[in-house]
Amino acid sequence: MVKIYPGWGASMSIAFIDLKTQYQSLKKEINERINAVLEHGQYIMGPEVQELEERLAAYTGAKHCITVASGTEALLISLMALGIKPDDEIITTPFTFVATAEVIVLLGAKPVFVDIEPDTCNINAKLIEAKITNKTKAILPVSLYGQPADMDEINSIAERHGGIPVIEDAAQSFGSTYKGKKSCNLSTIGCTSFFPSKPLGCYGDGGAIFTNNEALAQAMREIRVHGQSQRYVHTRIGVGGRMDTIQCAVVLSKLERFDWEVERRLSIGQRYNELLDEIGMPRVQQRGDRNSVFAQYTLFSSGREALQKRLSEAGVPTAVHYPVPLNEQPAYKHLCCPDCTPLASIAAKQVMSLPMSADLADRDMEDVIERLQKSLA
Ligand SMILES: Cc1ncc(COP(=O)(O)O)c(C=O)c1O
Repeated sequence: MVKIYPGWGASMSIAFIDLKTQYQSLKKEINERINAVLEHGQYIMGPEVQELEERLAAYTGAKHCITVASGTEALLISLMALGIKPDDEIITTPFTFVATAEVIVLLGAKPVFVDIEPDTCNINAKLIEAKITNKTKAILPVSLYGQPADMDEINSIAERHGGIPVIEDAAQSFGSTYKGKKSCNLSTIGCTSFFPSKPLGCYGDGGAIFTNNEALAQAMREIRVHGQSQRYVHTRIGVGGRMDTIQCAVVLSKLERFDWEVERRLSIGQRYNELLDEIGMPRVQQRGDRNSVFAQYTLFSSGREALQKRLSEAGVPTAVHYPVPLNEQPAYKHLCCPDCTPLASIAAKQVMSLPMSADLADRDMEDVIERLQKSLA
């Protein structure tokens, strides 16, 4: 039976991300799941936590899923489980949300930034090898805007250099695929975020880590609860990093229509692509061997500020992900070379994201492009 969800019809105003319509269409499941937690009262590590971990592990095909307090915590716990220490080097991209590099610096390690592919805005795998030294302890690509980075290429570089662990920052890409495999299960570790606006979001903070490595999974489970292997036995340094039972319940209810949402995001992204190509507007490209989940729909404009202003006046909200590469940020620029990733600097000046969510109606999407075309004139 084909389910009809609200996204098929047009709405009066265009939301940048439409979480209200999503809630309305899943209200019954979400309310029931939250109420069940309120009734059983196990707010921390209740049964929904394990249920969600089993569902997400099955979804990605990874052996282990460990839910955690946020996407940031997922990255931090992963690096801690790998034993990252001061002065270790972690290769990553500067064109990402700050959390990717923040966790590296928090552990006293050094982010080594590699420039991006100008068309996808993902890390350029071809430039990674030149940055590997004997201090390199992990490679941390980001699957930006919902499209996996070139994970096979990155994994084989890591393999050639003695099996350097690869962590996919999949905060934006849960639900996407790379050569038929699910994001989060493409390398040693995959980390995602359930921040409300992510492709699979909760109603607060949440995240998850995925791995097929038994020892790493065990370490991560312990680090999540203050390094505890048994009650009050702390065998390693950890954090308070659990995901609340209620947030797990919310994600479980959102899985109800997640497959539909992933398909819908893909078809909206592809339709946006067609419409933008018709009007000759440059945009982020997608590779043929990947299905993006379009966490953001992003184009390039050399006159971005003026265009954003005109679109805002025309009732189309936009956003910039991200205006400054991390190696140019005040807190980071002394740690690394601020001008060694020129393509990330150019992208940061030009990227602009359009309204995107599974509930964006077809007519609203066409309207966005029409108003964009008028704003360009
Ligand atoms: C690429 C990337 N990494 C990490 C994070 C951090 O996730 P969270 O906000 O759940 O801590 C985000 C969230 O915006 C992100 O986009």
